[in-house]
Parts: sequence; structure tokens; C-alpha cells
Amino acid sequence: MKNSEEIKSKDSVSRRNFIGKTMLAGAGIAASSMILGTGSNQADAQTIDSKSTKSANKNFRKLGSLEVSPIGLGCMSMVAGFYNPAPLRSEMIRQIRTAVERGVTFFDTAEVYGPFTSEEVVGEALEPFKGKVVIASKFGFNYENGRTSGRNSRPENIRRAVEGSLKRLRIDAVDLYYQHRADPNVPIEDVAGTVKELIQAGKIKHFGLSEMSPETIRKAHAVQKVTAVQSEYSLLERVLENGVIPTCEELGIGFVPWGPTARAFLADRFNEYSRFAQEDRRASVSYFTPEAIKANLPLIALVREWALRKDVTPVQFSLGWLLAQKPFIVPIPGTTNPYHLKENLGAVDVRFTADELKEIRASLAQIKLQGVRSPDSVLVNQ
Ligand SMILES: NC(=O)c1ccc[n+]([C@@H]2O[C@H](COP(=O)([O-])OP(=O)(O)OC[C@H]3O[C@@H](n4cnc5c(N)ncnc54)[C@H](OP(=O)(O)O)[C@@H]3O)[C@@H](O)[C@H]2O)c1
Repeated sequence: MKNSEEIKSKDSVSRRNFIGKTMLAGAGIAASSMILGTGSNQADAQTIDSKSTKSANKNFRKLGSLEVSPIGLGCMSMVAGFYNPAPLRSEMIRQIRTAVERGVTFFDTAEVYGPFTSEEVVGEALEPFKGKVVIASKFGFNYENGRTSGRNSRPENIRRAVEGSLKRLRIDAVDLYYQHRADPNVPIEDVAGTVKELIQAGKIKHFGLSEMSPETIRKAHAVQKVTAVQSEYSLLERVLENGVIPTCEELGIGFVPWGPTARAFLADRFNEYSRFAQEDRRASVSYFTPEAIKANLPLIALVREWALRKDVTPVQFSLGWLLAQKPFIVPIPGTTNPYHLKENLGAVDVRFTADELKEIRASLAQIKLQGVRSPDSVLVNQ
């Protein structure tokens, strides 16, 4: 029998090989990007990285009746205001089209990202793939002088929002339209009723909810079938396992984890010395204070250990673990980086035995996390 040092050393070597291969393949994407320039026409879209593994569309998953690739692409940070300065629009168009080439069919945006500009980038990037991909967007806010000014899910604001989303996304119907946040001034039945009318009018195909309680999900579903619920869920942030995910399972609703890498924490990118620029959203996230990061490093140690055991990267292990929880879970990691995109999509090949999943659960139960949501937060709309 091999001792643990031998196993570790073999694992380290094969993981290095794996990362080396990934980097080489990634370099191929970068090279083809340079040759093709950053134009946004259909020819470019079709020639990007013809050697793509297309691994993301193995094992398509179902969100309710909606079929999507097992991993989607979050397009929030493709515009300013989130984790990074605004990247070049042309590069984000290329990033989205590279995702299509790699088999991703599920793209996530929202009216409020920008506001409006993320939808514009997604609309331009996916125009050549109309009807072949699923675009999810979200409504539920007011805007003044180009900035968000509070929640608003009144029927007239949903109708206004959908017209704008359709125009920016360059489509005839939004595939999946989520209420982004609950509006305390508008009963959920009225929101669901308005979406139902818009579905009947052919402007929306599927209804989604984001960051809602099990009770709200049930009330909405009774008026208009909910296809997907989207909330934060990762190895770090697991509170929704109590209540929300079981409700989705019971009602046949898909579940879409946002923040599936815990905003890159699970990529093993940070430690207690990490500091975030004021413009970086992480600066105000409770699990990114130096104290919380330090307290949560045992989770990173666990992620590292399992990444080695599975011969994958920390992010691939973390996304693979999410996929292994339920067949109706479809994470949407957000990335502006083509190497990260390829790495993330590799998570579809990570497999776990039932015993391994139990072992991971037992280890997770030993880790006291800091800065994460409280258990009762799951019962209220966020
Ligand atoms: N419904 C909601 O309320 C809500 C809230 C937030 C987000 N969302 C949606 O969910 C999507 C994902 O959530 P999120 O962006 O907050 O969290 P996330 O996907 O967990 O994290 C995104 C961050 O992780 C980094 N990253 C991604 N892959 C990486 C890798 N392989 N290695 C290292 N770093 C990596 C990205 O940087 P790089 O760009 O450098 O890769 C980015 O800074 C968003 O794009 C958005 O569409 C929804």
C-alpha cells in the first residue's frame, strides 16, 4: 500500500500536469483570440477555438422543463460595479462566445447589472446563437439618473422592464425572467400574475425567483409555475439547504446557485492579508473581512485536500461538489477570464461516490464558519 506522502506526491504531479494541459489549451484560446481580433461578427463566433472540448454540455440538466448545460456563465462582472474594473466590451463578447463554443447554453444577466450594460453585452454576444442558447435575466428595480433607486416589482414596472430587456438582449422572448428581489410593497401573487400575463403574451418563456423564502416560492408557484430559483449557494454558503432547496425539489423547480465559487474564495485566492478595493463588492461582504477569511481557512484546507484527491483544481472540486448535490442544480460561475472559464467548465467531469460525499459532509460539519448567513435567514425574502 502507498503511504500518504507517496499518494500526495503522485497527486501533486498529476494535478500539475492537468493544470499544465489546461493552461496550454487556454493559451490556444488566447492565441486564436489574437489572430481573430476582437470583432463581434458571426464568423468570429463560429471560429473561436475550434478544438474546444465542448465538455460543458455533457449531461444537460433540467431546470423545471428548461434544458440547459450543467454549468452556465454569470455575466454580472462583465461590466463595472462588482469585483473588477469594467473589462473591454469586445473581450467580454469574445468570452461569452467562447463559452458557447465550449458548450455552455445558459447565460445569466440582469437589468440592474450596469444597469442595463450587462444585458447589452450579452445581447450582442449571443445574437448569432438566437434560439440555441438560454438567456436568463432579472427585473425588480427602479432607476434614476442611470442608477438603481430601490426595489420595484409593481406590474407596470415589470412590463417596462421586459420591453427593455428584450431590446437589449435582441430576442423576442426572455427565456427565464427572475424577480431579482422581493418587493415588500407588492404581493408575490401580483408579481406572479403579471409574469403569467407576459408569458401568455409571448414576452417571457419561464418564471424565476431570486433570494426568496420557501413560503414566497410556494405562493408564486401556485399562481405561475416557477422554473428556477436563484440564490447564493456554495461550499461556504450552505444555509439554503434548509428549506429552499428541499422546496425546489418538492415542487419540481430548478435551483441556480449564484456565487458558486464564493466570489473566488473557493479558488484559494485569498488569505487574512487580502484586502479589497472599495469598488470591489467583496470589500463589504461579511465573509471577506480579514477575521472571517482567517476563520474560514480550514474550509480552504479541506478544498485543497479534496482537489488533490480528485486530481482537479480547488474551483473544479467546489463546482463539482455543487453538481453532485442534486440533478436540478446548475451553477453559474461568473468569470471575465478565458482560462478561468475553461477551468470552471472542467468541473462537469468531477465524480463522487456516495461515501465520498458523506465524508465531505462530515468534514464540513466540523468547520465553524464565520461571516456566513444565519440559519433563520432562509425563512425570509432577502
Ligand atoms: N441573483 C442574485 O442576486 C445574484 C447575485 C450575484 C450574482 N448573481 C449571478 O451569479 C453569477 C455568479 O456569481 P458571482 O459572480 O457573484 O460569484 P462567483 O461566480 O462565485 O465568483 C466570481 C468571481 O470569481 C472569480 N473566478 C471565477 N472563476 C474563477 C477561477 N476558476 N479561478 C479564480 N477565480 C475565479 C471571478 O474572477 P475572474 O473574472 O477573474 O475570473 C470573479 O471575481 C453572476 O455573474 C451573476 O450573473 C446573481
